[in-house]
Amino acid sequence: MDADEIRSAFLDHLAGRGHAVIPRASLVPDDDPTTLFTGSGMQPLLPYLLGDDHPAGRRLVDSQTCLRVQDIEEVGDNRHTTFFEMLGSWSLGDYFKPEQLRQFWDFLTGTVGLDPARLYVSCFIGEEAHGIPKDDESAALWRELFTAAGVPADQVELGTEEHAARVGTGGARIAFYGNKNWWCREGSPERMPVGEPGGPDTEVFYLFPHVEHDPTYGEHCHQNCDCGRFIELGNSVFMKYRRTESGFEPLPRRNVDYGGGLERIAAAALDTSDVFRISLLWPIIERLQELSGRTYEDETLAMRVIADHLRGPTFLAVDGVRPSNKAQGYVLRRLVRRAVRFAVDLGIEDNFFPHVIPTIAGIYAGAYPEVAAAADAVADLLAREEQVFRRTLRRGLERLEGHRDTGVTGADLFVLYDTYGFPVELSTEVARAEGIVVSRTWREEFDEHMAAQRARSRGVSAPRSR
Ligand code: ALA
Repeated sequence: MDADEIRSAFLDHLAGRGHAVIPRASLVPDDDPTTLFTGSGMQPLLPYLLGDDHPAGRRLVDSQTCLRVQDIEEVGDNRHTTFFEMLGSWSLGDYFKPEQLRQFWDFLTGTVGLDPARLYVSCFIGEEAHGIPKDDESAALWRELFTAAGVPADQVELGTEEHAARVGTGGARIAFYGNKNWWCREGSPERMPVGEPGGPDTEVFYLFPHVEHDPTYGEHCHQNCDCGRFIELGNSVFMKYRRTESGFEPLPRRNVDYGGGLERIAAAALDTSDVFRISLLWPIIERLQELSGRTYEDETLAMRVIADHLRGPTFLAVDGVRPSNKAQGYVLRRLVRRAVRFAVDLGIEDNFFPHVIPTIAGIYAGAYPEVAAAADAVADLLAREEQVFRRTLRRGLERLEGHRDTGVTGADLFVLYDTYGFPVELSTEVARAEGIVVSRTWREEFDEHMAAQRARSRGVSAPRSR
């Protein structure tokens, strides 16, 4: 199955179990000042998870486009992308663990056809201080599902050495972790903002046995090891708590918030641990190979970054975001500028967005017709941004070159930002890539200049009082 087929099959699988299919929400949240982007499937459903009635009922399903810019530095490995689709399903006070885990299992092993012997799971260890129990119930349900499929399913406590050592031998099929298995929009149970919903979650991982464990991530590999041997496919949050000043209170209804990474499930279905090989990303890589005359094998990092960094801005532009120096517009700008910088590394000297955006629009034509409908306008918009930035980049590189012997300070970076519109994250990245020393205190210096400039501009625009 390719990614389009998996998305459709997921929606059908849940629709056949009484779920109403709802459309994706915009990447820019409606009326939520706490966050710039829709970063999970549950975000647009927050009021309903907190207790409001949803007009479509108590069982919902969708595929939600998401942007997580906090992962920008991770892009380049085999599985992280800033833009992704989350396959989501919800029980708003309807069914709970047994029915949900069965649906999750049937979808992965039946509909998508993944090998049950390569699935591994994790569950919540419990939080005594807040009276939140260990999730033995999910572990027992998983054990039943594995056993019925003929897969041995012992469980171990905690993410300990013992558990780590047993992964891959079939001994740590089910592992218990602490905060890794607590899901809320921000941080740990302790750091959740008051009023936020959250709960224990159970996560499903796929093992790629041909990927060698990398011991720089720890002696043994295990579900949550970052070496890339295990890839998380999705998780079910048993969302039944709300943070209060002093602890937690139960929500009016106990919900299930399920989220699966479409790109990662599609990679598992292809039996590759490289998500860039799937049908939503590979055509972009092929285009980049044609445009640069280089191969993905030789230029893996740059091609992955560009492919990722152009999907998000395409959808952002479709959802009405325009390049600017603040908020969502700034992030769009930062992504496309980073894409241009990596294209320069690939030797793509001419504007290339007009050759890539139509490929992206084509990939999503079936699932999201609004992308194809806006494709020409989006390509024009982003191409203009590319053109202007290529000029900026050339000038910025010349200026950075002038600092080759002295290194750059935060003050120099501020001038580049203020005069040439060179985003500071990008100029530090470019300087380092060019072997130019960046002062250790650049961030503080840059922030000071920024604050001084803000104070100056407030002084100019503030109404005068008598
Ligand atoms: N809300 C959960 C997540 O984003 C499903 O992973």
